This record gives sequence, structure tokens and C-alpha cells, in this order.
Amino acid sequence: MKNYYILFILLCFLSCSKNGQSEKKAINESDEKYEVVINELLSKMTLEEKIGQTNLRGTSSRAKTLSEELKQQVREGKVGALLNVMKTEFVDELQKIAVEESPNKIPLIFARDVIHGFKTMFPIPLGMAASWDEDVARTSSRVAAIESSSVGIRWTFAPMLDIARDSRWGRIAESPGEDPYLASILGKAYVEGFQGDSLNNSTSIAACAKHYIGYGAAIGGRDYNTTLIPEPLLRNLYLPPFEAALNTGAATVMTSFNEINGIPATGNEFLLKDVLRDELSFDGFVVSDWDSVVEMITHGYARDEKHAGELAANAGLDMEMTSKAYENNLKALIKEGKVSEKQLDVFVKNILRVKLRLGLFKEPYRDVANEAKFYEKTHLEKAKEAAIKSTVMLKNEGVLPLAKRSKIALIGPMADAPLDQMGTWTFDGEKEQTITPLNAFEAADVNYTYIAGLSHSRDLSKKEFKKAIAVARASDVVVFVAGEEAILSGEAHSRASIDLPGAQENLIKELAKTGKSIVLVIMAGRPITITNVIDDVDAVLMSWHPGTMGGEALQEIIFGLEEPQGRLPVSWPKTAGQLPYFYNHKNTGRPANKKDYVAMYDIPIGAWQSSLGNDSHYLDVGYTPHFPFGYGLGYTNFKYDKIEVSKDTIRFNEDITIKATVTNTGTRTGKEVVQFYIQDVVGSITRPVRELKGFEHVNLKAGETQEVSFTISSKILEFTNNKLVKAAEEGDFNVWIGPHSASGLKSAFYLKD
Ligand code: NOJ
Repeated sequence: MKNYYILFILLCFLSCSKNGQSEKKAINESDEKYEVVINELLSKMTLEEKIGQTNLRGTSSRAKTLSEELKQQVREGKVGALLNVMKTEFVDELQKIAVEESPNKIPLIFARDVIHGFKTMFPIPLGMAASWDEDVARTSSRVAAIESSSVGIRWTFAPMLDIARDSRWGRIAESPGEDPYLASILGKAYVEGFQGDSLNNSTSIAACAKHYIGYGAAIGGRDYNTTLIPEPLLRNLYLPPFEAALNTGAATVMTSFNEINGIPATGNEFLLKDVLRDELSFDGFVVSDWDSVVEMITHGYARDEKHAGELAANAGLDMEMTSKAYENNLKALIKEGKVSEKQLDVFVKNILRVKLRLGLFKEPYRDVANEAKFYEKTHLEKAKEAAIKSTVMLKNEGVLPLAKRSKIALIGPMADAPLDQMGTWTFDGEKEQTITPLNAFEAADVNYTYIAGLSHSRDLSKKEFKKAIAVARASDVVVFVAGEEAILSGEAHSRASIDLPGAQENLIKELAKTGKSIVLVIMAGRPITITNVIDDVDAVLMSWHPGTMGGEALQEIIFGLEEPQGRLPVSWPKTAGQLPYFYNHKNTGRPANKKDYVAMYDIPIGAWQSSLGNDSHYLDVGYTPHFPFGYGLGYTNFKYDKIEVSKDTIRFNEDITIKATVTNTGTRTGKEVVQFYIQDVVGSITRPVRELKGFEHVNLKAGETQEVSFTISSKILEFTNNKLVKAAEEGDFNVWIGPHSASGLKSAFYLKD
């Protein structure tokens, strides 16, 4: 390795001294030099060593010792990267073997699912999406990078950028929600946070834009399921967040488990070569998901392991996670001419490029100066801020904020559930560090009595109900912390009903009979249908799984030290039967409307089959969600006024500004997320009823008014049609500025060719 490092330094020195550029410039120019190193290395590698670079191997997360077999494989250059090596000393030992004993002394990359924090847990990604705040996303991934890089992790399998329109899907918890614009902003920020100013900084970790692509479209919200995505939809809905992440320099991409229109993503040449490489100019590496190469056999796309390897290789998959189709077959496939060695060389180059960008040839070991950066005060403060910004208030009938002296009955299975509060994908999080609502009430000297009532979210036992009711009776107000355990969302944890599990609804109903006000707090990995209890409670706060500092964040919100600032990143259904539901749906030929809607119980008995009220709705639950995308209340009110467009008609090369005033009409300072939507009224393919195209956070004192404006060009009106032409089209556009996707002041303009 030393030789390559010397070559690299020499090239750097020559170029720096030649043109006298700053160090920063030299780093920007380093890609050219990397190619020299890569080619030099490649020329020395045997076929086996090249194949070795494409192998991503795991160790058991519970492994107490390192297996001799793995060490030997590393020694022989048969492993390119490792995931889930949980012990730092194992990381160090394996890296030492790679850089000192392997034939070409190529360093390993150590990967882990660092999804929403390493030790300091931030809210789950769906929660952070509710902040509508790129700083929250960026800061969370920066903190995660600092903490995880200190144990040698230099590659995370995040951000997850799957648009999710179905809350039954367990992985919605990891997603940025249902909107491509919001997801793109967050995706970019996550990458910036993980990768820092430069990937070769020792606290930077390579991001992995996943799961490429369409994983969130799994039929019925069933994990790993089939997806059918017409190419225009792929380009208009699913691709934009990936484009944003790649344009920001995301170093790697992970393929998804699903098939798309009959071809598994892991063996999809069109997606991996045409779109990712040719169109998006991606030059990092693509890793499969766990076993997704060999799963192509189960999909019914590959005959056997060898065929799976052939399909993946020819599709352009650089690195294989856990399964061994490449390791076992690539050599033979190359010999038989079924896969070219040139293709393998491309994989190796892509992988080495990322290793060079990470600075691993220069410094393969973790930075000991960065050790023990866990749970730093600033990290905890940022996690608390993120939890506050992610909390969405869905209802408040004057009960919140509570007076500090209120006598509170703190009840519910999530009021003191330190593990569950952290949410899904928290391999390294420690429940001992979590501040639950109970801990926070205790620390803040709140006047409370605690009784869980139910021991966990699925508890069906009513044996503690009496005690809980007695506690409620003796208090002024009930704070009921409900939800679902972390294990009920995330990978392979889809649910057909998304009601509160266990006997939670029963307990809420019993508590409501006491006549006490109830504040319902939900900690969950997805929207939870609360139609059955919404009238029994006076306020609803959605905390998602809020992470390490969730309890403190909640305590501060409940007592009004902070206000809930989140806005829904997904539509909140009345019942799972409405799913998939998304605000940016099409109009249909018979859009549902209030005037024509006939509810099930209004249909006369024995009614004659007629088309009366026949539009796109459900007889039993109507056609609106419980709470729309973008919705969220604070502790004050805002009034929108005076929407204006700068021109009635714009040309393709012109900008247009749409503005409105927003006034805080309440009695305290408050924050609002002002949202900007458009509708392309007529298109060469039908267009959504609304699309988010901008938002701005405002912070206004009581009585204060601010003008908020959005300047757009025809560029943001572009979409891909069925002829796969991406363009804005002449015609009418409606625009709205307002508080959420089902409201706002409306205006219009015309786009002229
Ligand atoms: C499978 C999951 O789908 C993926 O998101 C994750 O990164 C890998 N396993 C590695 O744990």
C-alpha cells in the first residue's frame, strides 16, 4: 500500500507545486490522480483479487471472535468491504491484515446501517422528514458520521430515499415520505452531512442512496413485493431524490429487493447502466442489497447462482452484499465469455475510486483523536432539537400547552419505553441513554403520577386498567403515550391494520369516561389510524419514534417551552383501507367532491342501482385523509392573505414570482411552514392535482406579518411524458400558497411557448 500512497502524494505534490494551487483545489483535482493510481493497481491485480474487491462480507453481529477463515480471505485479497463488524478491535485487526498482508494492500471499507444516528439517536427518518428542515437532516447525518467514523465505519447504508405512499409498509419509517420535492431536499442534506466537506476527512462516511429503485411501491405495502412502475412515473416520482443525492456526490448506491415491471432491480441493466451511469453520470459504486443477487433466482429471473451472477454483472452491479454469486462464479463466467473482464475492471475501478476518495489508502485506520465522541452535549442538543422540529400536532382543543402546575396522569405503554422510542435500525443505540417522557418529567420536576396501564404496545391485558383510571381521576389531565414498538415498523414489518395495537384504544376509551382532558402522544414508525379514538382525546401529538432525546423534547412541547413544529411528510389515513393514499394523485374523470358524495348510511335501503354520487370515493370513509400531507398545528394561528403572481403569462425562459402574506393572528410567537403547490391543469399525460414546489419556514411574533414569495422558472414545471420527453408544456397552471396540501390561497398563470 505504501507504494500507492507515495505515488499519490507525489502526484499531488507535482500538481500543487506546478500551479501553486491551494490544498482545497488539489483535493478537487484529485480524481484525475486517483485514476492513475487505480489503473496502476488494476494492472497488478489477479482475476481473483479483482473479484475479491466486489465481495461485501458480513460477520455475525454477535461474533465474539474473528474467524480465521475470514482473516485468511482478507489476507488473500478476497474481500473488498465488510459490514456489521461490531467490535472496533476487529475492524482494526482486519484492516491491518488488508493493508499489510493482502497482495495489493488495498484497504477495506467497513459499513453499517447508520440510519438515523449511531449512538445519539435522532428521530426515525420519517420523523425527520416531518421537520421539513434540511438542517435537521444534515445535522443528524453529520453527528451520525462523527460518532460512527470513530469506530472505523466509513460507509453507511443511508439515506433511504424511497418514496412511500403506503403506511402499511414497515419501511415507511425509514423513508422521506410521499413527496419527491421534499425527499430531494432531505436526500441532498443527508448526503452533505454524512460526507462532510470532503469524503477524505476522517469523520466523513460514504453515503449510500438506497434502495434503487421503486422499493416503496411494493404492492399492498407488503415488504419486498412486486412493483409496477411506468417509466414516466419512475422519472417523475421515484427518481428525483436519487438524482438529488447523486448530484450532491453520494459515493454509493444500493439496489433494491423488488422487481420493477418484471426485472429485479439488482439485475436491471436499464436502471444501472442507462439511467444511473449514462444519464446521471454516477461514478461511485453500486452494491446489491442483502442477498438480492441470489434472490433473483427466487424471483424467477435467474436459473441458478451462476446465472444470477451473470445477470447482475452484465446489468452493471459493482459489489455483491453477502451472497456469493460473484465469488463463486465470476471467474468461470469470464472464462466462458459470458461476462467480460473489462466489465469486472469497471467494477473494481468504481470501488477503488470510492476507497481513494475516502482517503483510505492514505489513512486506512480510524482516527483515534476522534474517539469517544458519543453523546456529546451538542449531539444531544441537536437530537432534541430534531425531535421538537419533527413533532406534529394533529389536534389541540385548547388543552396544550399544559400549565406547569397541572397534575398529570402519565399513562401508556410508550411513556417509558427506552428501546422502542429509538425506533427501527438502531444497531448501536443504547436504551440506557434514552430519555423517555417519564425520565423527562422526573427531571423537570413535573407534578405527575405514572402508570403504564399496558406493559407494551401489543399488550391485550386489561388488568391494570382500574389502577390507570384511578390515577386519571386523581389528576387534572391525562398524557397518554401510545404507539407501536420499534419492532412493528422497519424491514419486513408491514401491517395490514395500522390502528394502535393491543388494548390501547380500549384504555383510552376507559380513560375518556373519567371526563379528564387527554393528550394523546403517539410514538410510532408510521401514521397510526386514530379514527376510533380521535373524539375521545383533546390533543394529539405525533412524535414518531423520536430517538434518544424524545422525552425531553416532548416535555418541553407539552409545557409550551417549545412548540410542535412538524408537518406531515405523508398523508395520514382514516383507515388502512384507503391505502395507498397520496396528496399528489390524479384528478380522474370523476373526482370525489362534497356536493355529490353519498355516504354509505345515506343510501336508502333497497336503493336502485344508479350512478348517483358515483365518483372516486369510498362509501364508508369518503375521499379525504384524516390529515393531509403538509398538515401540522402549532401554538398560534396564521392567516394567509393577498396571493399575487408577478405575471399572468410567462415564457419558457422567464421566471415568475408568486407571493402571499402570512400573519401570526395568535398571542404567541410561532413558526409556520409556508407551502407552495402547483397544478399543471392539462398535460400530454395527466398531471397530479397538486405538486409541492417550494416551502419556507417563517417565525413570526404575535400580530406580525411577513410576505413570502416563491420564484420559479419553467424548469420546475418539467415532467416526463409517455414519449419520455422531459419538458414543461404550454398551458394553464394553478398555484397555491398555504399551510398544507388541502388548503391555501389559489391563483394561476399561463406558460406560453
Ligand atoms: C437489508 C436492507 O434492505 C438494507 O436497507 C440494509 O442496508 C441491508 N440489509 C444491510 O443491513
